[in-house]
Amino acid sequence: MITNIKVNKPSPLKIRENLKSYTKGSNIDLTIQELLKGNEVLIDVFFSDGIKLVKELHEYLKLNIPNKSFQEQRDYRSTYRKLSNLILLEVINQKLCVKKSPKIGWLKKLYSENDHFFLTFPQIQGLNSAWQWYENGISLPVLRNKIHPYYGTYFPTRFEHLVLFNNWLKYYKGAKKSAIDVGVGCGVLSLQMVQAGFQKVYGTDINPNAIIGLSEFMGTTKLSRKIELDFGHLFGKWDKQTELIVFNPPWIPGGKDLTNIDDAIYYNETLFPDFFKEAKKRLLPEGKLLIIFSNLAQITNVTSEHPVETELVNGNRFQLERCFKKSVKSASSKTKRDQNWRSSEEVELWVLTSN
Ligand SMILES: C[S@@+](CC[C@H](N)C(=O)[O-])C[C@H]1O[C@@H](n2cnc3c(N)ncnc32)[C@H](O)[C@@H]1O
Repeated sequence: MITNIKVNKPSPLKIRENLKSYTKGSNIDLTIQELLKGNEVLIDVFFSDGIKLVKELHEYLKLNIPNKSFQEQRDYRSTYRKLSNLILLEVINQKLCVKKSPKIGWLKKLYSENDHFFLTFPQIQGLNSAWQWYENGISLPVLRNKIHPYYGTYFPTRFEHLVLFNNWLKYYKGAKKSAIDVGVGCGVLSLQMVQAGFQKVYGTDINPNAIIGLSEFMGTTKLSRKIELDFGHLFGKWDKQTELIVFNPPWIPGGKDLTNIDDAIYYNETLFPDFFKEAKKRLLPEGKLLIIFSNLAQITNVTSEHPVETELVNGNRFQLERCFKKSVKSASSKTKRDQNWRSSEEVELWVLTSN
């Protein structure tokens, strides 16, 4: 039973009085000038007014801020983020006050203690799309049932690495008493292991929403006795040895100021050395250590270093049994930003054993 973990959510903003509002008849140029001056603008009639205003803001910025080089694109996004977050919506009794607004169940689930507050328009858009994923669920080619990712939790949008892991599980002949899944996210790897016959999976995550969401998803079903969770760094409270340790870590080296959802994407300098040190203690002598990775950071020239290769060369703890690779399907024509490097992207499944 998971208690006392504080969920991550956009902080409710205090009520503001006398805000300028934007609606159908408002002057768009004057409204954008207000935003540029750093003044907040309230959407108080129709939800669609907010959609129109963020669209107009994009158009304005496209015409007025360069958006070509990598640095320019970053600056553009940061200006857009700053200005669009000045557009506010009012929430009363867990509902948006504007007309024709989408039903966003997170308002009830995450803000039950707060009857009147404001959120920014982009925050509402984020909550809205997260609600659609959660409500409708997502089918993954490796699981019988849909997953329902909780707000602010990482979930896979590409599946090649999951297929690699599933194939490995099919041919795995060792014991299936217990496994550890470091960084469970929405739980897909744990669910794959249970599906493959593992009796017990111990999962962790440093993102509270991942733990809260997966606990809620399992409820009191049989699954909740098979997958036990702990909110914590790396192995959390799990210190028993197991025959299988699985980690689908962040794939890209990142800076210091990471938010919870960024922790799913970017790793810091200590993550891998700490992980291998702790994994060594918890892997049974005949056990397997599985790491899912990708050459993404290498092919986009973010780094030439590969944390698993570094461990194998310098760590003196594990040896390589096998590395499976699978190329990632090239991106659809809609996402042209990524196309040139996508063709050479490969996901990797590293299988290590103790020295
Ligand atoms: C790439 S996601 C993978 C999630 C899931 N296992 C999957 O395969 O879809 C990485 C996960 O590891 C978690 N994570 C990152 N650093 C962690 C740490 N130091 N300890 C525990 N979990 C961590 C993130 O919050 C995120 O949920």
